[in-house]
Amino acid sequence: MDEDTVLGSHIEDEEIDIDELDGLDIVRSAVRLEGVSRTFKLGKRRIEALRQVTLDVKPGEFVVISGHSGSGKTTLLNIIGAIDVASEGRVIVMDVPIGDYDETFRSNFRLQNTGFIFQSYNLISTLTALENVMFPMQLSTKPIGELTHDAQVLLTTVGLEERFDHLPWQLSSGEQQRVAIARAMANDPPIILADEPTANLDEDSAEMVRSLLRQLNAKGKAVIVMTHDLDIIHTESARHLKMSNGELI
Ligand SMILES: Nc1ncnc2c1ncn2[C@@H]1O[C@H](COP(=O)(O)OP(=O)(O)OP(=O)(O)O)[C@@H](O)[C@H]1O
Ligand SMILES: [Mg+2]
Repeated sequence: MDEDTVLGSHIEDEEIDIDELDGLDIVRSAVRLEGVSRTFKLGKRRIEALRQVTLDVKPGEFVVISGHSGSGKTTLLNIIGAIDVASEGRVIVMDVPIGDYDETFRSNFRLQNTGFIFQSYNLISTLTALENVMFPMQLSTKPIGELTHDAQVLLTTVGLEERFDHLPWQLSSGEQQRVAIARAMANDPPIILADEPTANLDEDSAEMVRSLLRQLNAKGKAVIVMTHDLDIIHTESARHLKMSNGELI
């Protein structure tokens, strides 16, 4: 009997005690932040970009966070994505306290667990669309032919089957963002992080990006989006939070 079947019958038969599940492949939180602060020092100035942020995002949840410019949205996303480190507090991603580990661990962990989508796409300008999508697959032990095929499937999923060999400057803004979404999906990570993903796009491209984010969520990914885009904020399944002056309210 496989583990799912064991788990399924366990859940049906009796009230589940979450503490008994230790050791089984169940993740309690996709992201858990406990009293997270981030202070930047610029000369003699201290900028408190995040103040005591507490957040719990369950696997498969859709969370939308909005807030004024400078309120700390990008800083928060960078910390969840292990690109930056909290000055204070605990950051737990997929039940792993990532702040307890070194940069090498965090960078490998990031590749496996989080897909990032940025406002300005952040594609590597010297790599083709296909190579950009393959970039996060660098830790995979699969043969290169298989990885290439996987990346082609991902680009096809976002409607770019005719653009494999285009360099970023040979793509429209909307196409670049779709390459970025395919790249975010590269290792099939359980968490998708998006920082104002529709801010630089025309309405048709923005709608395509919204739809792809919703599809990823429907496939069970936890999606955390920083945005002012009312269409994303009003996503039926979304939980909407606001950031103000480094605090999550
Ligand atoms: N590396 C850094 N060094 C110093 N200050 C920083 C750094 N990164 C961010 N800040 C400051 O932290 C605060 C929060 O910045 P952040 O980029 O997180 O805001 P944001 O909500 O994403 O804004 P926007 O909507 O304009 O993207 C700002 O006051 C910013 O100037
Ligand atoms: Mg920002």
